[in-house]
Formats: sequence, C-alpha cells, structure tokens
Amino acid sequence: MNVLEINHLAVELPVEGALRRVLHDVTLSIGPGEAVGLVGESGAGKSMASRAVIRLLPAGAAVHGDIRYSGDSVLAMDRAALRHFRTHDVAMVFQDPRAHINPVRTIGDFLLEALLERGERRDDARAAVIAVLAAVGVSEPERRLRQFPHELSGGLLQRVMIAAALAVSPTLLLADEPTTALDVTTQSDVMVILDARRRERGLAMLFVTHDLELAAAVCDRIAVLYAGFLVEDAPAGDLHRNLRHPYTAGLLASRPDPVAPRPRLAAIPGRPLSAFEVGAGCAFAPRCAFAVERCHLERPELRVLDAGRVACHRAEELAGQLALSPTPGGSE
Ligand SMILES: Nc1ncnc2c1ncn2[C@@H]1O[C@H](COP(=O)(O)OP(=O)(O)OP(=O)(O)O)[C@@H](O)[C@H]1O
Ligand code: SF4
Ligand SMILES: [Mg+2]
Repeated sequence: MNVLEINHLAVELPVEGALRRVLHDVTLSIGPGEAVGLVGESGAGKSMASRAVIRLLPAGAAVHGDIRYSGDSVLAMDRAALRHFRTHDVAMVFQDPRAHINPVRTIGDFLLEALLERGERRDDARAAVIAVLAAVGVSEPERRLRQFPHELSGGLLQRVMIAAALAVSPTLLLADEPTTALDVTTQSDVMVILDARRRERGLAMLFVTHDLELAAAVCDRIAVLYAGFLVEDAPAGDLHRNLRHPYTAGLLASRPDPVAPRPRLAAIPGRPLSAFEVGAGCAFAPRCAFAVERCHLERPELRVLDAGRVACHRAEELAGQLALSPTPGGSE
C-alpha cells in the first residue's frame, strides 16, 4: 500500500473576503521508502500541496479531493487521529528554521516536546534526541540541548529541525525547500545528511524544491507543478533522457549546466501564472512554444505515458522534439 496518496487535490484560500484558487488538481502517490520531488516555479503551489498533507493550511482554507496516509483519509481524521498522525507518522522540515522554532525556549525543550507529548519517559526521550542530533552531525549534542536558537548558526539550526523530524521516527517526511535559506556550502552539507539519514531509515519523502536537478539527484520520481496543476510525474532518471512536457523541458533548459555550458540560458518566456489566473485550456499555453488551438480551449488531463504521467495534448508527437536548447523547434 502507498504511504501517501493525493487524489485530485484542490485548495482555495480566503483573500479579501472571497475564496481564491491556489491548487487546481494534484494527484500523486508515494510508496514506502520512496522519495518524490515536487518541483515548480515560485507560487506554483508546492508549499500549499505539502501543507495540505498535514492539514496545516491557512485558516479558512477550502480543501477538495482526497488525501490518504496508509489508506486512511487525512481529511476525515478527528482531532485525536490528526494529533496521532502528526506526532507519530509524519514530520515536516520547513525552509526557514527560525520561523518555526520558539526563540525563548531551549533546543532541548523544542526537541523533546513531541516525544514527551506522546507519553515517552523524559530520560528515554533525552537519550533519543541526543542520538539523533549526533546522527545529523551536531557536535556536543548534550550542550546544544541547553542552548537557545539564536546561539546556533542557520545550518546548525536546520540540522536541529531535521533531528526533530527524525526523532519521532516518522514513516513520511515532508521537506519544504529544506536548504534554500542556507549558504551554498552549508546547503550541500545539510542535503547530504538529510538524504543519507532518510535512506538509512527507509523513510518516504515528499521533497519540495524549485531546483529540478537537486530533486533528480535525491529523489526516485519527480512531480512537476505548474499554476496549481500537476503536469508531469516521471522517474528521476528519465527526465533528461525522455523529455515529454514542454514546461519540464523549459525548466531543465533554464538551469546553468556546469559541465557543458550552453551559449545562453533558455529562459521560459513570459511570467508564471498564478493558479487563479488560469483560463480554460492548458495552464502553460500562454508560454508554450508548442501550443496549438486545442491547447487554449481544452484542459489536458494527466494520463499515463511510458513509466510516468503527463498532462499535455501533444506529448506523444513532441517526443524527440523537445530538447535542452534555447530555441525549441517544432512549434506550429
Ligand atoms: N495565506 C495565503 N492566502 C492567500 N494566498 C496565499 C497564501 N499563501 C500563499 N498564497 C498563494 O498561494 C499560491 C501558492 O503558494 P505556495 O506558497 O504554495 O507556492 P510555492 O510553490 O511554495 O512557491 P515558493 O517557491 O515561492 O515557495 C501563491 O499564488 C501564493 O500567492
Ligand atoms: S497541452 Fe499544449 S500548451 Fe500545454 S504543454 Fe502541451 S503543447 Fe504546450
Ligand atoms: Mg513554497
């Protein structure tokens, strides 16, 4: 059974007294021990999709569709079941650790909270958090427990957040841009640790990032989100070999390649649409070099193609035409 199944998830949030669509249609699943990267430009809805999984959306959010953890509906959980889910089964690592940790409480209080809340003995909980701090490369873990967040660097604090997530021994890890607030060297150190500990423990992971290449390096599958729609889902190893969606091809082409630098970066033309701005057809049509009349009129369904799924009317005919080049050919 899948650890996580999201079916036709749609989310609306209240803005100036009315509900505004931020997610249209997201369907994805994560198997036991599997890592899925959720990628897309800023505002695509990555954070909202991952927060919906633990029902941590802004107040007044309207959620449609279905989210299942090990077969149980997360949206139908009562308070007690939701609490159990959040303290035993799932853990989240956020982008900015300082925004998610109480500055006037010690690191020890922060790390012990979830374990004590679920009834563990203080001595056992303390031994467990010391072990997990050491496992994520935090030196002098016992001294750290007495320190306050402001006494730790950003990189160290993010390791503490990862330790907090691992300490509850979850089955599913939600990591929302866990390294983007850190400097480049610290980013890769933290990423290596997160990846190693996740694999060792066999955790399933939803890894949210705008960095497709990073996602491909640490995940088994990649799910691509555009303006609140899941537009592609493919094995990570297939992405470069088998380009199938013009948006994914554009994302890959707009990233610098340190090995074989391209003459110029192929930016995707135009600006990313917000979910609430999308018209009747394909959300990517206004920016797509391959759009035809049908694309502006009819929404492409997400459908199975090869080892993945793709939402593009022209996916089959474009196979082989999409290239990591600045000027895609084959447009009509
Ligand atoms: N509290 C809120 N109320 C209303 N709209 C919101 C709220 N928070 C986010 N949004 C909107 O929801 C959409 C999706 O936001 P989300 O934060 O999920 O994007 P994202 O893909 O995570 O982007 P980023 O890469 O910048 O983190 C955006 O258009 C954003 O403006
Ligand atoms: S459906 Fe049409 S507009 Fe959308 S990605 Fe495919 S070719 Fe481009
Ligand atoms: Mg985000």
